[in-house]
Amino acid sequence: MNNLPSHIAIIMDGNGRWAKEKGLKRTAGHEQGAKTVRDITIHCSNIGIKYLSLYAFSTENWNRPKLEVEFLMNLLHRYFISELPIYLENNVRFKAIGDISKFSKKLQNTIKQTEEKTKHCSGLTQILALNYGSKDEITRAVNKVVSKGLDITEKTISSHLDTADIPDVDLLVRTSGEVRVSNFLLWQIAYAEMFFTKTYWPEFTTYELDDILSDFNTRERRFGGI
Ligand code: FPP
Repeated sequence: MNNLPSHIAIIMDGNGRWAKEKGLKRTAGHEQGAKTVRDITIHCSNIGIKYLSLYAFSTENWNRPKLEVEFLMNLLHRYFISELPIYLENNVRFKAIGDISKFSKKLQNTIKQTEEKTKHCSGLTQILALNYGSKDEITRAVNKVVSKGLDITEKTISSHLDTADIPDVDLLVRTSGEVRVSNFLLWQIAYAEMFFTKTYWPEFTTYELDDILSDFNTRERRFGGI
């Protein structure tokens, strides 16, 4: 393909509905969803994508039942421990965005260690959005710009976002049939191509991603020009 996106962002949705339709607990959907995260990350790395951003936990997800939130926190912790060798084998650099200070100290440390131990990897950068909300990110960025006494410009805001050194999103995908962006990378998707699929995240495959990439390949992006 001659026109691969450099940065793919995915809103991973439908874990709960996938599980319910199979007569399983919602948590089984998250568990299966974590496996899809691994498959899609390895695939993106293999085909030469440079950045993959995944919406793993939003600033609104704290409103879920306490037990589900606890399960997600534990799942994330287990995920980082089991994924480290996979990141290293595949030359994947891991980066977190979002306000992780609200997580337990143990999870914060694991996240920071994973960033530290993969920072030399030069292939794909996998960006996990953790306690992330775009409005929160932009507000934090503007506050940093103001507190440094800088002018508020597109450039200063961009360079104070959590994604400061990452190029804007080229392709945004959302699974599960919902057609909205739910406070994900609002600044960074300004010119992204968008794809919405009915497939639930636990069933999303590398083949479906390849189909989306073929479609992306045919889209003409004019960035406001003609
Ligand atoms: C949406 O499904 C999914 C999330 C709450 C976030 C994504 C979480 C995962 C893919 C699992 C863990 C991730 C990692 C990186 C280990 P939903 O629960 O909103 O589904 P529903 O809309 O069908 O209820």
